[in-house]
Amino acid sequence: MNGRIAVLISGRGSNLKSLIDACARGDISASIAVVISNIADAPGLRHASAAAIPTIVLSHKGISKREDYDAKVVEALKPFGIDLICLAGFMRLLSPVLIRAYPTRIVNIHPALLPAFPGLHAQKQAIEYGVKVTGCTVHFVDEGFDSGPIILQKIMEVRNDDTEETLSNRLLELEHQTYVEAVRLFFQDRLHISGRKVSII
Ligand code: GRF
Repeated sequence: MNGRIAVLISGRGSNLKSLIDACARGDISASIAVVISNIADAPGLRHASAAAIPTIVLSHKGISKREDYDAKVVEALKPFGIDLICLAGFMRLLSPVLIRAYPTRIVNIHPALLPAFPGLHAQKQAIEYGVKVTGCTVHFVDEGFDSGPIILQKIMEVRNDDTEETLSNRLLELEHQTYVEAVRLFFQDRLHISGRKVSII
């Protein structure tokens, strides 16, 4: 399947960059058709421009209802014929307006082993809790909070001297590999969802 991906970002965009590179190498049978950011000067937008991928800035400022913002995203995505939306550091909770427009076609990467440490600063939460291993999770996005069916998880040891920064940096490399692998499986049509469970076939 030669698919079309939209990536939604708010910041640095290192996961975006690794998806761009994987598509360019042919590791994922899809291309990134558009990148949307809610932040006008998100550094990650540069990765898209450098790869000649169209970018759209949709600021959330002045839009108080999540549903109204998400309706704009749905409208903006329409012309691109998107098969999969990848959230990559998109710092907004999605409302049913967007989720229902792309059922089981929105995925997210989270820097912890969900359901442990959802939300912000997952790496710091892991260190403070004292866990010995953590990792990253790629999951489908449902209407809950970091709660959708899990596609892949990869683990990593937490070191005694880890800080939020050192752990985040090491995890990021793992995130890049894991996200690419999950998106590759999606476009190979190898993900079968049954309730909460995703089997790789
Ligand atoms: C990553 O740690 C990702 O897991 C989380 O936000 C961060 C985004 O980093 N959801 P980047 O913008 O992809 O570099």
